[in-house]
Amino acid sequence: MSEVVTYNRDGSIGVITVNYPPVNALSHAVRSGLLAALEQGEQDADAKVLLVVCEGRTFIAGADIREFGKPMQEPGLPSVINRIEDASKPVVAAIHGTALGGGLEVALGCHYRVALASAKVGLPEVKLGLLPGAGGTQRLPRLAGAQKALEMITTGDFVAAGEALALGILDAVEDGSDIRAVGLAFAQQIADAGKPVRKVRELTDKIDADKGSDVFERFRAGLQQKARGLFAPFKCLDAVEAAFNLPFFDGLKRERELFMECMASPQRAGLIHAFFAEREASKVKGLAKDTPVRDVRSVGIIGAGTMGGGIAMNFANVGIPVILLEVKQDALDKGLAIIRRNYENSAKKGKLTQAQVEERMALITPSLAYEDFSQVDLVIEAVFENMAIKKEIFARLDEVCKPGAILASNTSTLDIDEIASATTRPQDVVGMHFFSPANVMKLLENVRGSQTSDEVKATVMAVAKKIRKVGVLVGNCYGFVGNRMLHQRGAEAMALVNEGATPQQVDKVLTDLGYPMGQFAMSDLAGIDVGYRIREERRKAGENVPASWMDKLAEQGRLGQKTQAGVYKYEEGSRKPIPDPEVEQLIAAFRQEQGITPREITDQEILERCMYVMINEGAKILEEGIADRSLDIDVVWIFGYGFPAYRGGPMFWADQIGLDSILDTVKRFHDTLGGEQWKPAALLEQLVREGRKFGDL
Ligand code: 3HC
Repeated sequence: MSEVVTYNRDGSIGVITVNYPPVNALSHAVRSGLLAALEQGEQDADAKVLLVVCEGRTFIAGADIREFGKPMQEPGLPSVINRIEDASKPVVAAIHGTALGGGLEVALGCHYRVALASAKVGLPEVKLGLLPGAGGTQRLPRLAGAQKALEMITTGDFVAAGEALALGILDAVEDGSDIRAVGLAFAQQIADAGKPVRKVRELTDKIDADKGSDVFERFRAGLQQKARGLFAPFKCLDAVEAAFNLPFFDGLKRERELFMECMASPQRAGLIHAFFAEREASKVKGLAKDTPVRDVRSVGIIGAGTMGGGIAMNFANVGIPVILLEVKQDALDKGLAIIRRNYENSAKKGKLTQAQVEERMALITPSLAYEDFSQVDLVIEAVFENMAIKKEIFARLDEVCKPGAILASNTSTLDIDEIASATTRPQDVVGMHFFSPANVMKLLENVRGSQTSDEVKATVMAVAKKIRKVGVLVGNCYGFVGNRMLHQRGAEAMALVNEGATPQQVDKVLTDLGYPMGQFAMSDLAGIDVGYRIREERRKAGENVPASWMDKLAEQGRLGQKTQAGVYKYEEGSRKPIPDPEVEQLIAAFRQEQGITPREITDQEILERCMYVMINEGAKILEEGIADRSLDIDVVWIFGYGFPAYRGGPMFWADQIGLDSILDTVKRFHDTLGGEQWKPAALLEQLVREGRKFGDL
């Protein structure tokens, strides 16, 4: 008997227990263990009904993703599940935690399903660039019908137990926390009632009802909008459609073919890299696992602007009280009104109840006095990018905050050590860089200063988890990881426009790559004044920052979406960027002023210049130890800037393109365009010399 799957009997119930931490994934050992235990249960004459139940925090959470890409070892999951469905006695799945992917498929192969009310079920394969490949696309529609099966399979979203019961995916839902007891009681009812085996594959009513329906065409049209550039959602749809057009076993065969197509797709590789990278990023290199973490039960935020308000919402959303500080009452009132409006909008969409809106608002206390921060555990400063002001604020915080309070800055570029130098406790000072809109974007780029203590580093990473962000710990330098690379891309995008491209041409190349928006649409969203102020700061500091047509936009008050005009123009109430002839004229005038004759620029040149300049900078960031691993850079870009997860992040993408060809192009640009940004990173040269990739570091 396998160690990870055991069989024993409890009265007349034969219990098959899976115990394969952390999430009971269907590794080879689990698959073969399930088969062996099933056979034992069938042979056990005293077992009337068999029960599949899991130890630990969850039911089976899917196929073992770590086995993907390796040769498949028999028995394969589809045959294990068919074997369960063909069992001679009723088999019950008892679900707690999450039954996901192959896990839900195992449950669908069982004859009955009971779950705790707290459980969730789903087929999230699409999020990994796959489709349910062990019968899920054929069995789920037989229980839930076409519409719901398509929704679940093409989005990968989970369904709570209550809803799954209503949909017919589950047969019973019970309160409580002891899944074994719940499973045994339910199995006993099946045994007492003498219920027969009930094979999902033999259910036909939902299939007959939806056969020939227009639901598939509607979904296909919808996906063309929502899943632009993605491979797997369309394959998911094809597989579900097969359940309605083919007999069950032919449908299974079709599902397998489509699954193998997804498996071979580069998008699958990118998405699985992104899945593991997200989890690895939380394990900070060099930080001991048992590093103490400080309690963060209250937070002070300085600045009730767009950033400060968004940050405050993150804490209120998880029940942590916030004191929101501003210098002037009207700024405070305005900030609170925007937070309320955001919550009210969520309530209108049905995401929050009115009571939840009030609860969250009640957690945010407005203040005009620093003294109110005397007892908070964490302060996050979110005022605009000006070193002198930030230093004043930190000196003030040093006076009023209790010992052990963490003093964080949401700066997106400035030197954390210099900010810390305004205090007597640099060990407690850290960067916590949120991304706009801060209540939506998942990334939290935590920045370690040279004296930040391990305890503070561990705490800000734990805070990220607590507020449901993806935390990445990075080193201190101008712009850290994300903005340092973004600034290179931004400068290159601007140069391309100077030389002859249009902003919309540059943006289109980036959106075609899979970014949700291009460089210039993003500048309009963030505010043209933000970049302008940063450039002005750098000029004041004596750096050579060339004049640009974007400075002129800022000087004319074209600040982006907020003024309905920036690089693009915007119609009232719309976020859709519209190219503006006035800006074209402004750019033309700028070119003339600078003596530039515009030339035709190809999309390929835009792609290479915008992306390779980032890759080269990313290599320098790794070389300097600002990022510990290339996966940290990938996570920053996926969760902070909407880099398409299906390309795995910029460094993973670069590995797929081939570092040798990237280096050749970087060298060519260095020769033709010049500039420090095109000087090949020593690490890039070294990796090419050694025939290695970023992922090998
Ligand atoms: N295979 C292998 N390892 C897995 C795994 C899986 N399916 N799911 C999670 N893990 C690992 C994680 O990598 C992590 O490992 P680590 O501790 O070494 O970093 C550990 O389990 C815990 O995971 P999380 O940190 O994500 O824990 P949470 O409690 O936050 O979330 C979860 C748990 C909801 C199960 C989440 O891990 C998850 O969504 N997992 C993926 C589920 C999934 O996509 N299943 C489908 C797989 S594909 C499939 O089944 C194909 C089939 O149709 C043939």
